[in-house]
Amino acid sequence: MVTDTSYAIIGSGNIGSALARLFGRAGVEVRIANTRGPATITELAASAGPSVLPVSLADALARDVIFLAIPFTAVEQLGKELPDWTGKTVVDVTNAHYAPDAAKDILKGRPSSHYVAEVLPGAWVVKAFNQLPAQTLAAPVPPSPGRRVVFISSDFPESSGQIAQLADALGLSAVELGRISEGGRLIEVPNALVLRNFTEQPLTAA
Ligand SMILES: NC(=O)c1ccc[n+]([C@@H]2O[C@H](COP(=O)([O-])OP(=O)(O)OC[C@H]3O[C@@H](n4cnc5c(N)ncnc54)[C@H](OP(=O)(O)O)[C@@H]3O)[C@@H](O)[C@H]2O)c1
Repeated sequence: MVTDTSYAIIGSGNIGSALARLFGRAGVEVRIANTRGPATITELAASAGPSVLPVSLADALARDVIFLAIPFTAVEQLGKELPDWTGKTVVDVTNAHYAPDAAKDILKGRPSSHYVAEVLPGAWVVKAFNQLPAQTLAAPVPPSPGRRVVFISSDFPESSGQIAQLADALGLSAVELGRISEGGRLIEVPNALVLRNFTEQPLTAA
């Protein structure tokens, strides 16, 4: 259940702030950390809402579900902060494409979330929340046309379902795409579902 799980966002820049605003608006508790310490996040937390708690990196790393809202090239370094990531669901919000030289050398044709899984040994990696610009993701959706769609992909169906439930609690409409090397490819920049802002529209009878 969403409320039995602890959440953290690592990174308080563009996309970390957008995620914080989603959690804050929904009243779902989330910790948020960066490299400079919690004092640098108090302003963001105050504007996002009381469920958003600035913490140290160590505190964020102790949570059940961790959002990686950091540059793709910083993921390997972050991976070394824990000897073993087993038991953590890690939501990979990074886009390797925006670090093209590094990404080409590192990926060698692999999906970026497979690389993330390699440098965070044991983590249950879920690719999600990466295909929309931060501003779009954070913007409230009015009751009409409907909930904003987010796409989710993972090689771990249970973790994919867990993040789909969370997305629902955050007021979003989750579409699960299956495995990283299959549906997950669609949300890897620059593929089909990237920068596509869908909203869920209930069908009405003619
Ligand atoms: N911007 C977008 O619209 C968007 C949309 C979807 C996905 N993404 C992806 O999201 C990721 C972040 O993008 P962004 O635009 O939010 O970047 P950003 O504004 O530069 O923010 C990056 C954040 O990561 C933190 N950070 C870096 N290395 C860290 C480490 N080792 N440990 C803890 N925190 C660390 C930074 O900490 P400090 O604040 O202490 O420097 C900063 O808060 C990228 O991979 C990007 O491709 C971005």
